[in-house]
Amino acid sequence: MGVSKFYVYNLLVLLLFVEQSVSGYDQLWNNDNEFASRERNCRTLYKRRSAASMNSFSMAPSDMSQVHARGDEPAPKTQSDNSSQNSDTNDKDKGEFHFLVTGGYRHENDDLVKFLVSIRHGKTYKFFGDNHYCGGCLISKTVVLTAAHCLVNSKNQVMSSRRFKVVAGTPRRLLETSNTQELQVKEVKPHENYIDDAVHDDVGLLILQDKVQTDGSTVDIIPLADEDPPAGLECTIIGWGVIFEGGPLPDEAVRADLTILSNDYCYTISEFGTGMICASNPENFEVDSCQGDSGGPLFCEGKVFGVVSFGEGCGRPDTAGVYADVYYYREWIELNAATCPLASWFRLPLITLAMQQALRAHCL
Ligand code: ARG
Repeated sequence: MGVSKFYVYNLLVLLLFVEQSVSGYDQLWNNDNEFASRERNCRTLYKRRSAASMNSFSMAPSDMSQVHARGDEPAPKTQSDNSSQNSDTNDKDKGEFHFLVTGGYRHENDDLVKFLVSIRHGKTYKFFGDNHYCGGCLISKTVVLTAAHCLVNSKNQVMSSRRFKVVAGTPRRLLETSNTQELQVKEVKPHENYIDDAVHDDVGLLILQDKVQTDGSTVDIIPLADEDPPAGLECTIIGWGVIFEGGPLPDEAVRADLTILSNDYCYTISEFGTGMICASNPENFEVDSCQGDSGGPLFCEGKVFGVVSFGEGCGRPDTAGVYADVYYYREWIELNAATCPLASWFRLPLITLAMQQALRAHCL
């Protein structure tokens, strides 16, 4: 093989490799119009949320056990709630739970549950879905956005990808249907600055081995927040977290409506800091996310703005749930959703070079 042909061959192999490795990134960006300009957004330095005075909050949370579900503690395995109605009573006669976190509800034609996935850890105990561990949402066909604390153990080690499974298209946690897709995980990527027992930088990604099949009705991809969420923004959380503090996990995904609170208020919550937003329901403090909702999405205006992170208990008065601020971490998310973030920059010159060489080799 002549030198130039050898060169062309190598270039083409390199090109193929680059194309392969960049695929997850492409889907993330091709998903929505707002993602159209990859290069522009790669260079964008995202505005950080204005941080109010750090001195105004105490560093000692009132209940540390609720503040942070540890990576090695799966979501509580308790009696599941198979009720499909909204009710705020515990119907002892039928021996069934009908409790929801007050104000939590099930939407008849839920248009958000298609973005939600159940992250499962380890083997099932008895039933499909009883190893639900955390929530997450699909931000591309191969990338799930979740919380870092769902991905590391108490020794701050990243948990093995083999132990995770992502289940999409399953509004009922315990019911496998023809729309249910179980996906293997290729890579587990918690934010590198996340430290177990601390609550900052609580974002992470699961990179899937295969592409999820999206159909727009049972499984779909949600765009990332494109603005700093203003106080007063109306949002919805959705998940399979416990239906009240210390209570059972539901079978059907539960929704709750929340409003983003001001930074001034959020900084009154212990451990609140940069890269976080907080939200509650101004009419009912019991509306909140809870254990098992972690990693799940806070949706506002058809985009994911927050990742369920921590709180002082759940649904308690004079506090609010804390969420990782997706807009703040958008750059990190975009870079890490790509297997090879620099690849897109190299692609164009590489293609030109390969074509030039191919032509030259052909003409020689
Ligand atoms: N850390 C919890 C989990 O692992 C989520 C807690 C959310 N708490 C709240 N009050 N909003 O599932």
